[in-house]
Amino acid sequence: MAVDLSTRLGPLTLANPVLVASGTFGFGMEMSRVADVRKLGAVVMKSLTVKPRSGNPPPRIVETPAGMLNAIGLENPGIDGFLRTILPQARNLGVPLVANIAGSTVEDYVTLAGRLTREATGGIVAIEMNVSCPNVGAKGLHFGVSPELLKGLVAAVRAETKLPLVVKLSPNVTDVVEVAKAALAGGADALTLINTLLGMAVDVKTRRPKLANITGGLSGPAVKPVALRMVHQVWQATKAPIIGLGGIATADDALEFIIAGASAVSVGTWNFVEPTAAAELPEKMAARAAELGISRLSELVGTLNLA
Ligand SMILES: Cc1cc2nc3c(=O)[nH]c(=O)nc-3n(C[C@H](O)[C@H](O)[C@H](O)COP(=O)(O)O)c2cc1C
Repeated sequence: MAVDLSTRLGPLTLANPVLVASGTFGFGMEMSRVADVRKLGAVVMKSLTVKPRSGNPPPRIVETPAGMLNAIGLENPGIDGFLRTILPQARNLGVPLVANIAGSTVEDYVTLAGRLTREATGGIVAIEMNVSCPNVGAKGLHFGVSPELLKGLVAAVRAETKLPLVVKLSPNVTDVVEVAKAALAGGADALTLINTLLGMAVDVKTRRPKLANITGGLSGPAVKPVALRMVHQVWQATKAPIIGLGGIATADDALEFIIAGASAVSVGTWNFVEPTAAAELPEKMAARAAELGISRLSELVGTLNLA
């Protein structure tokens, strides 16, 4: 049975629902040497900031049981470097590109969204906002933990771009539904859930934190149950288009997210374990859906059996 994998995220239609997560796939060119990136629904690129950033000092990655901690610190070439040298190469990959933006002020996000909209014409299909960043104007409070801050931020970016706008939520909150509603009220077309969970690891011999930054973001299979729970809660409360991610490695992992309410999924940490896994996932999901008697994957979205 041929399975229709196409999916819609608000105004954005993708040939299949498998994306790769920001920060785990570079800008696409790096991984195109080992994997057939054209088989992906889209590549979500590394977070961009206004100015180039070299990131945090090492060590900035630690392996944990069933996952990893990272404190990369948004290393990226900045918007000028992206537009000048990276985008011209990435747009030849033959896969839809989603730009991911990050900042420490509303102005940063507005500048990035405006420049991408005006200067990356035809190169990108959507903008994803990474809001797990401290807001310098609010004493370092992360945009993504305050519904009020987030709504204002998203509304300001919304006014700057007509590109599909996706807001990537932080799981480090008490009530993810409240934050999701604020992002939608600000004008988000879709939501991405989840970014990394704040964590840390200690070296018992030296008593030092294993990350130079002390804390970092936990990702990988360890976080999948948390991510699924959040996708489920947000879908039930909003019925908004969701990109689900957190520990996805297999077709069944991806289908769990779709059943819980995601219209698309992203592979993150697993790209480091098996760099070809994401590109192979659409075919594997189609095969699994056929086994389950599903001919259109979109029919499965949010069909969690709660009876
Ligand atoms: C090494 C690394 C770097 C990341 N960098 C970014 C980033 O720049 N921007 C962003 O929005 N998320 C970033 N993330 C978070 C991932 O995109 C994803 O939300 C998270 O890792 C959960 O998915 P996973 O368990 O499949 O990795 C990063 C994750 C890792 C592991």
